[in-house]
Amino acid sequence: MPIEKADPDGFHVESPAASPDEVRRRHEANRSAWNEGATQYTKEIASSRDFLLAGRSNIHPIERRNLARYGSLADWCRTAIHLQCAGGRDTLSLANEGAQRVIGVDISDLMVKNARELARLTGIEATFYRCDVLEAPHELDGTADLVYTGRGALCWLHDLDAWAAVVHRLLKPGGVLSLFDGHPVQWLFREDSPTLEIADGARYFGYAVSDKGWCEQYIGKIDGMEANEESRKYEHNWTLADVVQAVIDSGLVVDVLGEHPEDFWEAFPALPAAERERIPNTFSLCARKAAAGGSCSTG
Ligand SMILES: C[S@@+](CC[C@H](N)C(=O)[O-])C[C@H]1O[C@@H](n2cnc3c(N)ncnc32)[C@H](O)[C@@H]1O
Repeated sequence: MPIEKADPDGFHVESPAASPDEVRRRHEANRSAWNEGATQYTKEIASSRDFLLAGRSNIHPIERRNLARYGSLADWCRTAIHLQCAGGRDTLSLANEGAQRVIGVDISDLMVKNARELARLTGIEATFYRCDVLEAPHELDGTADLVYTGRGALCWLHDLDAWAAVVHRLLKPGGVLSLFDGHPVQWLFREDSPTLEIADGARYFGYAVSDKGWCEQYIGKIDGMEANEESRKYEHNWTLADVVQAVIDSGLVVDVLGEHPEDFWEAFPALPAAERERIPNTFSLCARKAAAGGSCSTG
C-alpha cells in the first residue's frame, strides 16, 4: 500500500502500464527498490533460521485453512513453487508444512541471496531463481502441485493476465494456486489516520502509483541512504475483480474466494482494531488447473 511522503515529489499517481516495455521497465525499477528493501530481510536471517529449525511455519492460518481443503500438504504436494518468495522464510515454511520439494522465484538479487543463505543455514533443500515472475523458467512448466503467493505480491506486478498465465503454465494438471494478499479496498484509506479516512486522490479502479521510501512498520529507512536517494518503486492496486477475472481467463477454476478482516501486517498502525475490522483487509483465493482428461471435480 503506498504511503504519501512528506517529500511532495516522492508520490506520483501513474497511468496503468500500457505496453510490455513499460511493464518491464517498472518491474526492473522495482528490482532496484527491492534490492534496497532486502537489506532489512538480511538482518532477519538468524531469527528466521531459528524459527525454521524449531519446525515452525510462517504460513498464515487463513492460507492453512484454505489448503486443508485439499488434504494434508504432505500427502499431495510433491513440488511447491513460491512466486515472489522474498527472503525464503515462507518458502521454507512450506517444507515444514509437508511440501516435499520447494522452489522460490523472486526478482530481487539480494532477496534470492538471502533465501539461499537461509536454506543453507537450515539445511532445508530448496531451489531459488532470480527472475521476473513473468519470466519464470520454462523448465518449471507443469511441475507444481502448488503455486503459492501473496502477502504483498500482486501490487508489484503491472500485467496481471501475464502473471495468471505463468501460474497456469507452472501448475501440473490438478495443481492448486493459493493466493492470500492485501485487499484492494485498503488502498482507499489513509494509512496514518486513527479513523477510516479516504486518502486524497485515491481511487479503486485503475490505480497505479510510484513513490520512494518504505513505511516504518515494514522496512523503514534504508541504512546509509537518504529517502530521496532510494529507487522509485511502482505499484498497481488490482481490484478484486481484476484478480479473479485474470485467474479465470488463464483457464484455472476458482475453488475458494474469501474476504477477511484479518491482516498479515500492520497496514494501519494508528487505527484501533475495532475500526480496522470494519473493512476487508485481505482476500484469499484458491484455484485449480483441470486434471489430465479435463475434469476439475472437487474433493
Ligand atoms: C512484500 S514482498 C513479499 C513478501 C513475502 N510474501 C514474505 O512474506 O516474505 C514482495 C516481493 O516481491 C518481489 N517482486 C516484486 N516484483 C517482482 C517481479 N516482477 N517478479 C518477481 N518478484 C517480484 C520483491 O522482490 C519482494 O521480494
